[in-house]
Amino acid sequence: MTDSRYPLAVAWLHDRPGIDLLDQTFLPHEEVRRPLDDLEGVFEAIANLRVRGAPAIGVTAAMGLAATVSRSIEAGTSPESPSALLAQLDRGARVLEGARPTARNLSHSLRALLGAMREWLDQEATTRAPQADLPGWACHPWSRALVGLADDIRSADAAQCRQMGMHGADLFPSEGVSLLTHCNTGALATAGSGTALAAVYELHARGVPVRVYACEARPVLQGARLTAWELQRAGIEVTLITDSMAGALMAEGQVDAVILGADAVCANGDVVNKIGTYTLALLAQEHGLPFYVAAPRTTVDKSLASGAQVPIEERSADEVRFLGGVRTAPPDVAVWNPAFDRTPAHLITALITDAGILRPPFGPAIQRLVD
Ligand code: MRU
Repeated sequence: MTDSRYPLAVAWLHDRPGIDLLDQTFLPHEEVRRPLDDLEGVFEAIANLRVRGAPAIGVTAAMGLAATVSRSIEAGTSPESPSALLAQLDRGARVLEGARPTARNLSHSLRALLGAMREWLDQEATTRAPQADLPGWACHPWSRALVGLADDIRSADAAQCRQMGMHGADLFPSEGVSLLTHCNTGALATAGSGTALAAVYELHARGVPVRVYACEARPVLQGARLTAWELQRAGIEVTLITDSMAGALMAEGQVDAVILGADAVCANGDVVNKIGTYTLALLAQEHGLPFYVAAPRTTVDKSLASGAQVPIEERSADEVRFLGGVRTAPPDVAVWNPAFDRTPAHLITALITDAGILRPPFGPAIQRLVD
């Protein structure tokens, strides 16, 4: 079931095997939906930020893999043995895992889909396909199972957003709050109401006056293009600032807390998130402001001892040389363009997860969460 308060980042196609993506590269100018029915298209959409945000990437990859393999099952061109089907899924998962290296949710969702399908194939004789409101084209038992299991991943993410929203909103006073956020952590970044912005939506729903300052998030402006659009659409007060204004805004006393998301949460509580997050954490510490990171458990990877182990995606130099299609720098100037940075655990006040609020020391709390 969809909720019209939130834009729908990804859905099933209804007329044929595939997925229906809101192409975020056109926002805020146009709402363009893009049908995708092959693995190359799903890879391209993730790599080129048509869909972005760690949970949305994970859900899109799982649904995209399920739909594209289902297409071959329905066409009768898929392998006929369960082990060959699993090998086909594994090949597809490996391709999609390469689309963006930092978001933990990407491989988490793909591996969850494979594990669930393996289990289903093992028990096929005794277990029914998962119940879900599946698209009509999924007729073969294998594709119904696969699509149902991918849909479970989508609906679990939406449920986790609701939980993060409740827990996050409980952190703030009912008299009202002014929050600074970074990048886009809302419905566009998930299959539900978001991670950090889920708390904002929940505060708004509770009638708590909430004002959001959104950093624009250079180079590709997820804050300006997406967060400002999404919050305005929901009728939530939002004020856009450039990234370099955050310190002055805090010094003016306009911010009660910083709240943002994560692409990776490590075993020791370090987080990796959109470039600029580390700077905001340092600024929050200097100004004595709480610094909250919201992430579902699918973003947590306890095999990563610390942020140093998380690969940081470096993106095209032209993302920095251009702004909105206009060149703003000499064509051949050298550029450094990491998409993410690492924030050490000691700068984080609390992690807002679907299972509740985690406070320092994060190591034991994260261990309990993933166990
Ligand atoms: O490069 P993006 O737009 O995928 O970066 C997204 C973020 O950094 C978000 O803060 C993060 O994915 C977590 S919120 C859903």
